[in-house]
Amino acid sequence: MQTEILGTDGGSLVAAKRYIEAGEVVAFHTETVYGLGANAFSDDAVRRIFALKGRPADNPLIVHVHRDYDISKLIDGEPAYAAALRKAFLPGPLTMVYPSRGKVSKYVSCGLDTLAVRVPSSPTAQAFLRAVDLPIAAPSANLSKHVSPVTAQHVFEDFNGKIPLILDGGPCSGGIESTVLDCTGGVPQILREGLVTREMVASVAGECLLYKRKEGEKPKSPGMAYKHYSPYCRTAYCRSAEEAAALYDAEQAAGGAPAILCESGAVGILEGRNTLDLGANGEEMAQRLYALLRRGEKSATLLIAVEPKEQGGVMAGVMNRLKRAFGGSI
Ligand code: TXA
Ligand code: MG
Repeated sequence: MQTEILGTDGGSLVAAKRYIEAGEVVAFHTETVYGLGANAFSDDAVRRIFALKGRPADNPLIVHVHRDYDISKLIDGEPAYAAALRKAFLPGPLTMVYPSRGKVSKYVSCGLDTLAVRVPSSPTAQAFLRAVDLPIAAPSANLSKHVSPVTAQHVFEDFNGKIPLILDGGPCSGGIESTVLDCTGGVPQILREGLVTREMVASVAGECLLYKRKEGEKPKSPGMAYKHYSPYCRTAYCRSAEEAAALYDAEQAAGGAPAILCESGAVGILEGRNTLDLGANGEEMAQRLYALLRRGEKSATLLIAVEPKEQGGVMAGVMNRLKRAFGGSI
């Protein structure tokens, strides 16, 4: 199969609609990361996503809809705080988990009685979702466990020849996956941290909990139990730039080609070494993280991360991805 990378002009949306209606999988730009989408009503189409990614069968998918789609067709009621959150943050990088009406394929939620719904703000995603006018089940468009894609080229690297079409909307401005928020209880609860922060949710809903899995408990958001976002090269995680410098020098002395991923403030300390600059604040680091991980895995024999000192804002989401990409180990 030939994989085409196209913008939303010309006939690409007509083609996308045709593919989706035929049960094919189409990749598309969103403001967070690229998604790998299929008709959420079709068992076969949804199962094809799992097969393509090599995704564990117990890790549920998010359903994506355009901004005027009536989600009451899919979900079984919504608390008042959730309606307020939708108004405040959608379209945008917030995924909301509701009681499900069970209308979409059972493979979407992997047997859970809830449904995760997202309304992306990306004009490319909106154009695609409007053209198909169907709920689109979509995980991030990377092979399972690999780094999430933030350009059409990243998607191409993982799925060339396996899917017919990538709808290219340019680099993703957000850069890390959406916040996943459980809206089935009396108080909203964050299952996965992202660009909509706990403080932002609390400012609208009054309070917001952060889910922490207890020892031995089945995770509420199954995806969070898996190793994730990993570059294909060897990795190391350091608490300080000095520690990273020592590891770097040892790798170089042994004939390797190391690289160090660090916040802007640490670049100066590491002068003369090959650094990948994450940026100076949470938003920049979110935006650059996955592209730098993908660049690093191609060029480095050892990719070393230095723990950023920057706190607050979207750093909780960035730290979650960074630690899981590097396994948090040295
Ligand atoms: O930004 C994003 O959310 C991207 C773009 C493509 O929209 N999508 C994405 O999908 O990150 P994925 O499949 O890589 O991650 C979905 C996460 C997983 O951690 C999964 O366990 C959780 O959402 N999830 C999905 N349905 C759920 C449900 N019903 N209850 C709890 N967690 C759910
Ligand atoms: Mg993913």
